[in-house]
Amino acid sequence: MSVLHVSTQPFEGQKPGTSGLRKKVTVFQQPNYLHNFVQSIFDSLEGFKGTTLVVGGDGRYYNREAVQIILKMAAANGFGRVLVGRGGILSTPAASCVIRKHGAYGGIVLSASHNPGGPHEDFGIKYNIGNGGPAPEKVTEAMFARSRAISAYHITDAADVDLDTVGKRALDGMTVEVIDSVADYAELMERLFDFDRIRALLASPGYRIAFDAMSAVTGPYARAILEGRLGAPAGSVMRADPLEDFGGGHPDPNLVYAHDLVELMYREGGPEFGAASDGDGDRNMILGHQFFVTPSDSLAVLAANATVAPGYAKGLAGIARSMPTSAAADRVAAKLGIDCYETPTGWKFFGTLLDAGRATLCGEESFGTGSDHVREKDGLWAVLFWLNVLAARRQSVADIVREHWRTYGRNYYSRHDYEGIDSAAAEELMDTLRRQTGTLVGKKLGAYDVASADDFAYTDPVDGSVTTKQGIRVGFSDGSRIVYRLSGTGTEGATLRVYIERYEPDPSRHDDDPQVALADLITIARDLAEIERRTGRPKPTVIT
Ligand code: G1P
Ligand code: ZN
Repeated sequence: MSVLHVSTQPFEGQKPGTSGLRKKVTVFQQPNYLHNFVQSIFDSLEGFKGTTLVVGGDGRYYNREAVQIILKMAAANGFGRVLVGRGGILSTPAASCVIRKHGAYGGIVLSASHNPGGPHEDFGIKYNIGNGGPAPEKVTEAMFARSRAISAYHITDAADVDLDTVGKRALDGMTVEVIDSVADYAELMERLFDFDRIRALLASPGYRIAFDAMSAVTGPYARAILEGRLGAPAGSVMRADPLEDFGGGHPDPNLVYAHDLVELMYREGGPEFGAASDGDGDRNMILGHQFFVTPSDSLAVLAANATVAPGYAKGLAGIARSMPTSAAADRVAAKLGIDCYETPTGWKFFGTLLDAGRATLCGEESFGTGSDHVREKDGLWAVLFWLNVLAARRQSVADIVREHWRTYGRNYYSRHDYEGIDSAAAEELMDTLRRQTGTLVGKKLGAYDVASADDFAYTDPVDGSVTTKQGIRVGFSDGSRIVYRLSGTGTEGATLRVYIERYEPDPSRHDDDPQVALADLITIARDLAEIERRTGRPKPTVIT
């Protein structure tokens, strides 16, 4: 065995986006493409010789090949040990958990999240730092800069490592430790939640749950925890075997892509509790029998009930939510007398607050919920948290949410997405709104009085870093809100997201369809931004 120093040339566009470098599999399969990026990661890091790296991914097409390349490059670059999930599998939150638990230097996570997988679909790679969270922007910028100047990479010519049996093996002076993908994560969940109580709930006569793993990475985790440790009947986990192409589906947990689960939950006599997670296991969708819990409400309900879970029995230090997420959690924070932080969109903005102990729970309207237990959002964690709340309260999901609304009022909420619109038109629409923010206050739009208007800017209260242009906010005197922003994860054209929210304190008005309850504000939002005239779209592509 020997280390090879292979000369190479830079590739264009190896710029990590919101969540690492995401490209088509065929792009990653080009000779040297992955190697260049991995070497750029290693070249941007310091002092890692002899330390531990964690490697794993969501099992999508090209995962196994990528893991072998990364192992051989880690050995050639001087890492002392690599912890890799069996079969190359680690969900994103499990990778974060393993990095933290084993004091690793960092980790490489292979995933394109909820994007489809397969030979002609997406693949992704991202680097997480020692706190278990995604690398901050200054680190990813250094990687990108390196990728543009790279001239060689280092790799051992050793044979492939057996990834399918747990145990230690040597790779050119480095130790590869294949670990059970689930064990560390399951042990953490067992410490956070009252498994005895959840077991008793699941054993009660006629109580059924359904979890849709969407043929993605959470299958083995959900089987081991829900069916194994908690005793849910076999088959409670649907689509439990991870497939390289996710069965041809979109592994995104929402009412559209998890349709089999939704149909089951709305059927007469269907399960009491249903949930789904995405390709890499960090998103979650929560359903009750014939009831959908919006992610914004889910965060608020978990915050209000957090102390039933042993891991949160001492109470919450604070709550953080992304700016477009509804203010339902703010009302809980106010009642608890704790701080609520409003951050820009994207999980990376929660890291400093969690590290500093200022926030315990955090969430985004885009089906992301999590806490300080790891530094990623965590789908199965949210499911177990809900089960703990249900086990403690012994009420249905719908009753718990309705009671929550009676106590705190209901934040009616909806997001309208206009996907694949012309980028120039989208920029122009946002620029026009930005110019208007100065003159909107005091104006009447329909029956609503504009009380505030700005382009959201955020100063991180921990490290003082400033992030600007994070979305146009128009606030009304009754607390209603319209927010406009452009997606930062799209690949074709631009996606305009419009977030609409109205607070309704009156319990007799809590049972409306959100599209009806928000109808006036939806019209105002369309008119104010002249969406149809500027984009040619009379209505949104996706409504959540
Ligand atoms: C979207 C979501 C955002 C989430 C991100 C990564 O980003 O809106 O909340 O953090 O995906 O999962 P966007 O496309 O809106 O920039
Ligand atoms: Zn994901």
